[in-house]
Parts: sequence; C-alpha cells; structure tokens
Amino acid sequence: MSEIRFERYLADAEATAALGRRLGRAARAGDVVAAVGPLGAGKTCLAQGLARGLGVPDEHYVNSPTFAIMQVHPGRLDFHHIDLYRIADPDEALGLGLEEAIGTDGVAYVEWPGRLPEAIPGDAVWLCIEPAGDGRRIRLIGRGPRSGAWLRRAFENERPDTDLGNTGIS
Ligand SMILES: Nc1ncnc2c1ncn2[C@@H]1O[C@H](COP(=O)(O)OP(=O)(O)OP(=O)(O)O)[C@@H](O)[C@H]1O
Ligand SMILES: [Mg+2]
Repeated sequence: MSEIRFERYLADAEATAALGRRLGRAARAGDVVAAVGPLGAGKTCLAQGLARGLGVPDEHYVNSPTFAIMQVHPGRLDFHHIDLYRIADPDEALGLGLEEAIGTDGVAYVEWPGRLPEAIPGDAVWLCIEPAGDGRRIRLIGRGPRSGAWLRRAFENERPDTDLGNTGIS
C-alpha cells in the first residue's frame, strides 16, 4: 500500500487555518479527510481554513456540525463537514446520506471517524492533531494514490516525512 506522511508544528491557530487553506486549494472532488484529535485540538479551526481554500465564501460561517452531524457549505468544491461525535451505534448513521457525501462529489471532512470507521474510504487523508507546547503537532497521512497526490499538491516541493510509495513495502 502506498502511504505518505507529513508532520508539522503549528505555532498558533492561524497556522492551523493556513494549513487548512492549503489543503482546500489543492483538493479535488471526492477527496476525504478523517480528522482525529482530542477535544479542543483544532479540528474545527482546520476545517474553517479548508472551507476557505475550497472557495466557501468568508461570510459562510463554519462551526462544528455536532448537532446536525453533517453540514454542506457550497464553494468551488462543496465542503461536506461531518461530525460523528454523537453517533453511538452504526444504525444511527443510517439515513443521514453519508454514503453520498463522503468520497463522491465535493470534499468531505469527517471529525471523530472512529465512531463509524466503515464510512471512511480506504484512500483517505488521515489527519491527527494534538497539543504540543503552546501550539499543535499535526500529522497528515495519505493512504493511497488519490490522497497521496492531494498531499503532494498541498505541500508542493516540501519533502514528506515518510514516503512508502515506491519502496515496494506493502
Ligand atoms: N496551532 C494552534 N496553536 C494554538 N491554539 C490553536 C492552534 N490551532 C487551533 N487552536 C485553538 O484551539 C482551540 C480549539 O480549536 P477547535 O475548536 O478547532 O478544536 P476542536 O478539535 O474542533 O475541538 P472539539 O473536539 O471540542 O470540537 C481554539 O481556541 C483554536 O483557536
Ligand atoms: Mg470542533
């Protein structure tokens, strides 16, 4: 399996949002992020940047869709913001339209993916963010060709921290 990983230190909330914007500008329809991190880590802050990079207008406020589970924000590419925090049982996800929203058109950003792992396609970007000093440490792992290509576009000429794309390791 190809896998590529970028690790960065984000000194403040603006750095988190800026990374989100880079991802948004480089995204293609069907791209998926699974965002993991403790409460208050910065998952929603990154989502706000991602929305701007996708061309969601500034006046369109992006907060956590905890109570709605899913919110769709129209942009150059639609931003499908999904928060599975409240899903306790897979049956509760039936009828929400997640299959149509994740990995089809638009770009899906799924918070608390561990609540419903089967909703995440195999080829997705896994994003892990956690507190580190006064800022945050972020790891972005592209698991597959689509997600790896997305991260390479977003990071342009920056060197990945791990690239298992051409080693033959499976
Ligand atoms: N790199 C950073 N350094 C310092 N603070 C940051 C950084 N990134 C985001 N923050 C701040 O962390 C706080 C929590 O961010 P956010 O609401 O995005 O977290 P979250 O992961 O969505 O939390 P929850 O799981 O509770 O919804 C905000 O005040 C945000 O400004
Ligand atoms: Mg949040």
